[in-house]
Amino acid sequence: MIDFSHASKAYTNGDVVLDDINFSVSPGEFVVITGKSGAGKTTLGRLLIRDLLPTKGKIVIDGEDLSKIKPKNIPLIRRKIGFIFQDYKVILDKTVGENISMVLEIGGYASKKIPEKIAHLLEMVGIPKKENLFPGQLSGGEIQRAAIARAIAADPPILFADEPTGNLDKDTSIEIFKLLQKINADGTTVIMATHDVTLIDLSPARHLTLEKGKIISDSEKKTSALSEPSPTAKTKRKIKK
Ligand SMILES: Nc1ncnc2c1ncn2[C@@H]1O[C@H](COP(=O)(O)OP(=O)(O)OP(=O)(O)O)[C@@H](O)[C@H]1O
Ligand SMILES: [Mg+2]
Repeated sequence: MIDFSHASKAYTNGDVVLDDINFSVSPGEFVVITGKSGAGKTTLGRLLIRDLLPTKGKIVIDGEDLSKIKPKNIPLIRRKIGFIFQDYKVILDKTVGENISMVLEIGGYASKKIPEKIAHLLEMVGIPKKENLFPGQLSGGEIQRAAIARAIAADPPILFADEPTGNLDKDTSIEIFKLLQKINADGTTVIMATHDVTLIDLSPARHLTLEKGKIISDSEKKTSALSEPSPTAKTKRKIKK
């Protein structure tokens, strides 16, 4: 489904921030990528949605080499990946419902079904009936839930969550993490980037460690204090040398 093969990224100033990245993700997996600030987590996510191109190597999603796809097909790739941004990127002068509705409209969702879909999404992420509130009227944890609802609104097969618990207290972080696990159990492939290694101890997720732009480990935890491993999660691993 996702394959990074010898992918490197240098920004225009020449600094190599991702260096020879190799990993594959199978449908249904839950992958947590940890790494300190500046390790390259957000850069990796931006490569995945083809917001950036690798300077070397290749990234393939469902058989499509992201460096070779035609510009007109870029939106098709982006629709496959729901992205939860590190800084939320919710539109502050639109309500929670309007923020989600925009994604549904772009995804071609029938307009008369949109209110019902939004109500269902908000129920699922744990902020029912908040569609008419503006982001400024929500707590940080609630904004994060709204951002998750927006990212999964158009039912993308892949969800990339960039530091989704960054500004939240421990209990709320665990709740958000559980929510991502539930989304994964419902069939979505989830990749979560975080500097919070304590979440790893609570989860059966596959764990990649990024350090200074390199993957230094790719492991699997077999026990969970939070929940059973997703029934859809695959345990297949592949690290290319
Ligand atoms: N547009 C850019 N131009 C030049 N350098 C950049 C750019 N964006 C990021 N970088 C550099 O790339 C490195 C990796 O940044 P990135 O944002 O991917 O890290 P991160 O792991 O997401 O960090 P954090 O945990 O703080 O979010 C950093 O050293 C950063 O300064
Ligand atoms: Mg980041």
